[in-house]
Amino acid sequence: MAPGFITITPLRKHCSSLALIVLILAVMRLRAVKCVELDVGGPYGWATPPAKNDQMYNDWASKNRFQVNDTLRFTYKKDSVMTVAEEEYERCRSSHPVFFSNNGDTVFMLDRPGLFYFISGVSGHCQRGLKMVVKVLEHGSSPQAAADPPPTSGAVFVAPANIAKTVFVLLSSLWGLIFV
Ligand SMILES: *[C@@H]1O[C@H](CO)[C@@H](O)[C@H](O)[C@H]1NC(C)=O
Repeated sequence: MAPGFITITPLRKHCSSLALIVLILAVMRLRAVKCVELDVGGPYGWATPPAKNDQMYNDWASKNRFQVNDTLRFTYKKDSVMTVAEEEYERCRSSHPVFFSNNGDTVFMLDRPGLFYFISGVSGHCQRGLKMVVKVLEHGSSPQAAADPPPTSGAVFVAPANIAKTVFVLLSSLWGLIFV
């Protein structure tokens, strides 16, 4: 009996440190997953909206949540993207845009919380609705997080909605450990 214990004990220790590594990897993965790239306008891309739809991009923006370090991808043809001040957004023109790009495939990083004003630099397009205001939230802030009860002391707290995600990440990390 005694020799059996000698071989089992180190194996258990090994397993628990492996579990800890998996947990750490899972937490890192959850954090990494937070930054997303969003395609502006979905499949329509960045193009003058159909007539009488000049709030199309603001409607799109209001259906999304933006956090610091998320990126926006603008895809377009024969057009451009500018980031401008609020007054210039209202006037639909800018002589000194903060940012300008016209390469047809622009990736813009939302590098701070607050408002970003985007307009097309092509004459007339902004007036027809090729413009958008994006509101960027602080990283990690969400209406849900504010409503969650505080974690019980000493216990690991996982919100019910996150359990499936956590299990998935745990499994995919394990997968990574086995095959990397
Ligand atoms: C955003 O990215 C920058 C540079 O990659 C990094 O230094 C910063 O900590 C990030 N901010 C957040 C809130 O993730």
